[in-house]
Amino acid sequence: MAKIHEIDGLQFHEIVSSQQIGQAVKKVADQITADYQSTNKVVILTVLEGGRNFSDALLDELADAKFEHVEVKASSYNGTTKSTGIVRFEGLMQLNLLGCDVLIVDDIYDTGATLANLIFKITSFCPRSVKVAVMFDKKRSHDRKVKINYIGMEVPDVFLVGFGLDYQEKYRDLPFLAQLILE
Ligand code: IMP
Ligand code: MG
Repeated sequence: MAKIHEIDGLQFHEIVSSQQIGQAVKKVADQITADYQSTNKVVILTVLEGGRNFSDALLDELADAKFEHVEVKASSYNGTTKSTGIVRFEGLMQLNLLGCDVLIVDDIYDTGATLANLIFKITSFCPRSVKVAVMFDKKRSHDRKVKINYIGMEVPDVFLVGFGLDYQEKYRDLPFLAQLILE
């Protein structure tokens, strides 16, 4: 039975524990460490706000000066539970990614609109390579818009909060992943 948390009068059905999240982060960090073994510098590009929790946890595990950290702020939801499909980025123009090995880190792959847009934009900076890591992959039947190189875990196609995922900018810092029941 799923653990049920009640916060602000709402019900949160825990579907991934903080311990399982920690294990998945470690698994991804190990894969990244192995794959970039012979790379001198890797630019971790975190997609804010959602990607922050995953990227902080990953950087703790990676703990190597060759992983540099930069951020862009993306927004595609307008405080609702449905993606609008329109994605805006702040902070992209200040980045110098020419010839860099870029690893984009985001919270979740849902429709893929955010990552498809971001990769398209980043490609114009002529990086050497671009890979993508997401903590959660929503199980959906649609075709992939972008290739994801690292996935923490698959999750069901429901509205989720915690570990970076928000509902109206709240609940991002819950250490577990939960389905938010909105009735
Ligand atoms: P996309 O649809 O793949 O572009 O995902 C866009 C963004 O929507 C993700 O990076 C998340 O920040 C957010 N998102 C997608 N699914 C959920 C969810 O279940 N809860 C909260 N935010 C979500
Ligand atoms: Mg996001």
